[in-house]
Amino acid sequence: MQTIIILDQGSQYTQLIARKIRELNVYCEIYSYNKIPEITEDVKGVILSGSPYSVTDEDAPKTDLSSFKGKVPVLGICYGAQLMVNNYGGKVEKSIIREYGRARLSFIDKQSRLMNGVNLESQVWMSHGDTIQQLPDDFKIICSTKDVENAGYKIEGEETYAIQFHPEVHHSKQGSLILKNFVIDICQCDGSWTPKSFVETTIKNLREQLQEDKVVLGLSGGVDSSVAAMLLHKAIGNNLTCIFVDNGLLRKNEFITVLASYKGMGLNVIGVNAKNDFYAALRGITEPEKKRKAIGSTFINVFDYQAGKIENAKWLAQGTIYPDVIESSSVKGPSQTIKSHHNVGGLPKNMKLKIVEPLRSLFKDEVRKVGKEIGLKDELLARHPFPGPGLAIRILGEITEEKIKILQDVDDIFISNLKKANLYNKVWQAGAILLPIQSVGVMGDERTYERVVALRAVESVDGMTADWCHLPYEFLADTSNQIINQVKGVNRVCYDISSKPPATIEWE
Ligand code: XMP
Repeated sequence: MQTIIILDQGSQYTQLIARKIRELNVYCEIYSYNKIPEITEDVKGVILSGSPYSVTDEDAPKTDLSSFKGKVPVLGICYGAQLMVNNYGGKVEKSIIREYGRARLSFIDKQSRLMNGVNLESQVWMSHGDTIQQLPDDFKIICSTKDVENAGYKIEGEETYAIQFHPEVHHSKQGSLILKNFVIDICQCDGSWTPKSFVETTIKNLREQLQEDKVVLGLSGGVDSSVAAMLLHKAIGNNLTCIFVDNGLLRKNEFITVLASYKGMGLNVIGVNAKNDFYAALRGITEPEKKRKAIGSTFINVFDYQAGKIENAKWLAQGTIYPDVIESSSVKGPSQTIKSHHNVGGLPKNMKLKIVEPLRSLFKDEVRKVGKEIGLKDELLARHPFPGPGLAIRILGEITEEKIKILQDVDDIFISNLKKANLYNKVWQAGAILLPIQSVGVMGDERTYERVVALRAVESVDGMTADWCHLPYEFLADTSNQIINQVKGVNRVCYDISSKPPATIEWE
């Protein structure tokens, strides 16, 4: 398959480059600059990302260009541009004026294939402390701005290009065109990587890989595991067995409805009621990380036991997606653990199953597109993310069945109202939190002393940062009234107006 390789030299924009390339229906993969893959025939071009380093720093990434430069087309971005200049006898120095922010192109080489169709005065986004003072002899300028003469260059005699600005960021108005010129025109990718072609190739590859083997997969009700299951189902039919565990911490009626919709999709799915195992493991625990660990290990035991009943199962399928893969192999290494779920726990070593991950090359929105392509209902695809430990991390303090029931009822009113008001799809994630306090209220003539709940709704792209949603006051007023009137034991509703950071989406 035609592939563009992106070498990550530590830039915060590396994933953005990948997203932009994939929007052109071209497949690309990100590798760390020090783990360059073999440049096979499929590799149509290489992109060098930017970096927070200066090429003159002692510990700057010293990417070895020898396996690809001059052999396949190369595009250096920012640090990538400076690196090649530095390596081949030019001069990179600290910039005297600040080269940060918007700039306009004041010169464009009309002959340059990379700059084809790009207009003079087009806005580009600069973000660097160093600048290219002097190009080596066989490097030719292809564009300049008022302050940066060597804004872009081509190395003569080879298809190697570089630009000091960032075509991947939104502020470079014709950045997508430059990337398109590179991957489609210069690298000659045909732009045929679409959800449809992904589905066809994946199914074919899964059939070859798995043959007649049996596979088990843990369904969670979420988008990733559902799409992974459907792809496998299409590839190997009944050789796939799915296990859907009711941990007793799901949304109201969720286990029954989701199980029914899985069965409706033709999946061979075993529903396991393991509520009591989870409740027992959670008894007496109040600390969030301990809750997660208790739930994680109970899940492993339940899943392991059920999977053990499937004779001759050889593979364990997982819905791992690309950000998880990149995270664990990035330049910076796995980021610091803030909540333990961000590091996928893994299953017991003694399971001895081989791992198959059909979605490991996709970003989240691509998973949704693939899901749509294979006919998953919008209802399933548009679901808000829901944490693995479920309501356990939305009940602050100790978990009891009574508290779960209260929170399920509150959450159900909130989520149903969002759907009725056509707000559900505008919100990235929403839910309710049961606080470990009671407050005084008055109902009829009686003083009450009951529970407090908080509602949380956020806007986000990937959950890494989030802002609270400005839900209409009338909506909040109605929902609050309904909750207090209908859910026994609750006499106060608050709305969470904190952003992430510094808060997180979940309260625990
Ligand atoms: P935070 O609370 O870290 O949440 O801002 C970011 C996203 O991750 C989800 N989340 C979890 N998902 N297991 C999960 O599978 C967990 O323990 C967990 N904690 C948080 C959260 O719902 C949000 O989508």
